[in-house]
Amino acid sequence: MDALLITKSGKLGGKIQLKGAKNSILPILAASVLTKDDVFIGNCPYLSDIDDMIKIIRSIGGKAEWDNGGISVCCHDVDPFGIDRTLMKKIRSSIFILGPLLARCGEARISAPGGCEIGKRPIDLHLLGLSELGVGVAEDRESGLVSCYGRPKGGMLRLRCPSVGATENLMMAAALCEEPTVILGGAKEPEIIDLAHFLVAMGALVVGAGTDVIAIKGQSELHGASHLPITDRIVAGTFLAATAVCGGDVLLDGAISGFMDCTLYKFRMLGMEITDYGCGIRASSHNRPKAIERTVTMPYPGFPTDMQPLLTAALAVADGESTIIETLFESRFRYCEELKKMGASIEQEGENTVRIFGKRLHGADVKAQDLRGGAALTTAALGADGITYISGVEHIDRGYERIERDLSNLGANIERISDF
Ligand code: UD1
Repeated sequence: MDALLITKSGKLGGKIQLKGAKNSILPILAASVLTKDDVFIGNCPYLSDIDDMIKIIRSIGGKAEWDNGGISVCCHDVDPFGIDRTLMKKIRSSIFILGPLLARCGEARISAPGGCEIGKRPIDLHLLGLSELGVGVAEDRESGLVSCYGRPKGGMLRLRCPSVGATENLMMAAALCEEPTVILGGAKEPEIIDLAHFLVAMGALVVGAGTDVIAIKGQSELHGASHLPITDRIVAGTFLAATAVCGGDVLLDGAISGFMDCTLYKFRMLGMEITDYGCGIRASSHNRPKAIERTVTMPYPGFPTDMQPLLTAALAVADGESTIIETLFESRFRYCEELKKMGASIEQEGENTVRIFGKRLHGADVKAQDLRGGAALTTAALGADGITYISGVEHIDRGYERIERDLSNLGANIERISDF
């Protein structure tokens, strides 16, 4: 297994070229199952989560290949019972395959998905939504297998909470159904708008994506499409956090500021100067970050839960006391124990609140236990005195294409050690 070796870095400077958003590409890859035709998705980062989704598509009989910085897919024939159980358990996003498979084949069997251990992460909203669309759902709790029968028939349904994944799964399930489907209480994330654009490019009609009422009118057949996904707002936010910790001046080429309002607002509160230069974001920081009294994670357009660990990394070295309240996932502060090994002063209050007292950090031997928590340790290590070893880098590789390459290009002292 690889490790990252990070030595305290000076100010960052230079330009990062952002690639497509993991959280767009994963559902869009699954949506490729909706057509027999060729699909191409451009500007895809090489991430293990995306590679696992490619393998899932292959396991049901589709063709999917990395192709010139993008991914080509052709699902001419698919086997609704063929999904590899081990792959299903590897990533949470494997659940996305269920909606498209049902729409295409009228039946499917999957096992419960895996993914980052940041909370319970049930799939009840996905299954309830499918049954409201007329699908028969049978769960075998002992084996963890979920069997579904019947094509989605369309209709109106309301989500109990705005789950990103359930909204996307149900949009895809509805896309081969000529009867309209209306999802009330859907999530509004930019990646949902991106998925809607892809479904429209394949021939479906989708209105309302980006609001909490989304209507889908499908076609009996969808055709192939090429799509350029939106860039990754969480990766962009990670480089903002690194710049807040180290200071410096960086350009995030391709970053879409309009999708990052709340994140940019918080980083400006840290004292950063952030401007939109038309095709990206310029961020500079010249002083120690300022503390932020209170930050609460919320569904979009609120402050993203995925940015929570990265903001904590910046607040851990800030001048003063900050509080973060996590409202989406129950176990999303595990990385704080590792940050404490680096000297961070963090107190957890109850399940969902941490108080952070900014101070100077020092290097330590720490372990990434989930994707964004691992990115937070990397960010904090850039500003910590001495040397930090981060193991568990496979978690970071799920969402960052060679994070050490991009950070070194900005001048950070970071290298990957193979077989640590
Ligand atoms: C997606 C993102 C993830 C992000 C999260 C919240 C992808 C691939 N992943 O995950 O990076 O952290 O949104 O912005 O896009 N819930 C249920 N039942 C369900 C589904 C969800 O109770 O069936 C709850 C969850 O436990 C959680 C909340 O809904 O408390 C939001 O989860 P959800 O939006 O579904 O997250 P994901 O789609 O898994």
